[in-house]
Amino acid sequence: MRAAARRDSCDEELWGVTGLLHDLDYERHPDPETGHPRMAMAELERLGYPPEVVRAVASHADYLHVSRDTPLEKTLYAVDELSGFVVACAYVRPEGIHGMTPKSVKKKLKTPAFAAAINRDDVRRGAEELGVELDDHIAFVIAALDGQADELELHGSQAA
Ligand SMILES: [Fe+2]
Repeated sequence: MRAAARRDSCDEELWGVTGLLHDLDYERHPDPETGHPRMAMAELERLGYPPEVVRAVASHADYLHVSRDTPLEKTLYAVDELSGFVVACAYVRPEGIHGMTPKSVKKKLKTPAFAAAINRDDVRRGAEELGVELDDHIAFVIAALDGQADELELHGSQAA
């Protein structure tokens, strides 16, 4: 989210915080009928976070039927599942995130058993709604995560 904000000359802090906090209630309240992300939204509101953050959190949950209108909302949705997927790809490569290509990520997207919990349709729809080519979008997410490889421990098993 921070990388995308920098690219789009948007508020890096706001976008970063939105990415960081959007799933904050998920572990305790995973139920789509009654839980996530409603508690997160209420808590963010209570703490005085800007309405655009709260709305972005709402809009990332398709089942709440809150439209994704702003660049922040579209970006959150577009990078959410894909980031998780790219990290999963990095975990199974000796080189980790380094040198990863969109082509290899797309190949794994076509392997249903790999990171099966990640919804492939969401990944494709995210890029589509953002108005970017999937390849370019994957390359962007790889580069963004590569830039944080230390923190995210994505150097792979070959890391010295
Ligand atoms: Fe979520």
